[in-house]
Amino acid sequence: APAYENIKIDVVGAKKNVGLIQLHRPKALNALCKPLFVELGKAVNDFDADNNIAAIIITGNEKAFAAGADIKEMQNNTYSHNTKEGFLREWEDISNCGKPIIAAVNGFALGGGCELAMLCDIIYAGEKAKFGQPEINIGTIPGAGGTQRLPRYVGKSKAMEIVLTGNFIDAHEAEKMGLVSRVFPVDKLLEETIKLAERIGTHSPLIVKLAKQSVNQAYETSLRAGLQFEKSVFYGTFATVSVSI
Ligand code: CAA
Repeated sequence: APAYENIKIDVVGAKKNVGLIQLHRPKALNALCKPLFVELGKAVNDFDADNNIAAIIITGNEKAFAAGADIKEMQNNTYSHNTKEGFLREWEDISNCGKPIIAAVNGFALGGGCELAMLCDIIYAGEKAKFGQPEINIGTIPGAGGTQRLPRYVGKSKAMEIVLTGNFIDAHEAEKMGLVSRVFPVDKLLEETIKLAERIGTHSPLIVKLAKQSVNQAYETSLRAGLQFEKSVFYGTFATVSVSI
């Protein structure tokens, strides 16, 4: 396995079919520096390409999922540097993954940390999780999807409140507003997330991939185009061997 410095990877689950990625920069609350994201992108791509892996989990530690983009790394960036380098471009590797990615969030998921969780397909949270988009406190705005994905999760008014105040919301509020699908005791979060990944892993990998693509269309296109996409995928599943009652 590749040697990583900012993440740890493992293969878990009774059938060893769940790829687990733990963000591991504990001293910086898992701030998402570029080297971390390069490693994360590689780990996600490798699990995506591995036929033994059914689903991927991204997690952090009890204190932090991730406290955002690395402020120390980016504080001297210029507009021209960001534009030339395509700052945060590595993040697209996560959204290009064909397999389900589940975020298991304990502790802080702030700024880019919240945005990383929202790039995943399902968010499970531990009771002490805290979500927020505090970029406004440091004179910028969310830059990895927060202004676009958060309203799709929670609606305009709540998203505006979160982005314009920088206030944090706790796990139960996040569940109520639809940002996370379930909340668990801190020490049960990872095992429950693995159970979810294993459950998904009992299904046809081809159908899982198509179902994920179809749900994602709801975020990316008009209702009419999304419905057309769904129908054509639905019809297409009848050409696979896995349609059965
Ligand atoms: N980037 C770099 N380092 C960070 C960091 C970040 N986003 N968040 C925390 N750290 C570092 C701190 O600098 C500190 O390092 P030192 O010990 O070397 O000083 C260490 O992690 C521990 O942090 P604190 O001492 O601050 O811990 P705390 O428990 O007192 O506070 C916190 C926790 C409320 C999360 C606080 O750390 C905080 O507010 N962090 C910044 C959150 C933030 O603003 N995130 C948005 C970043 S911008 C962004 O993400 C842009 C985008 O959309 C892509």
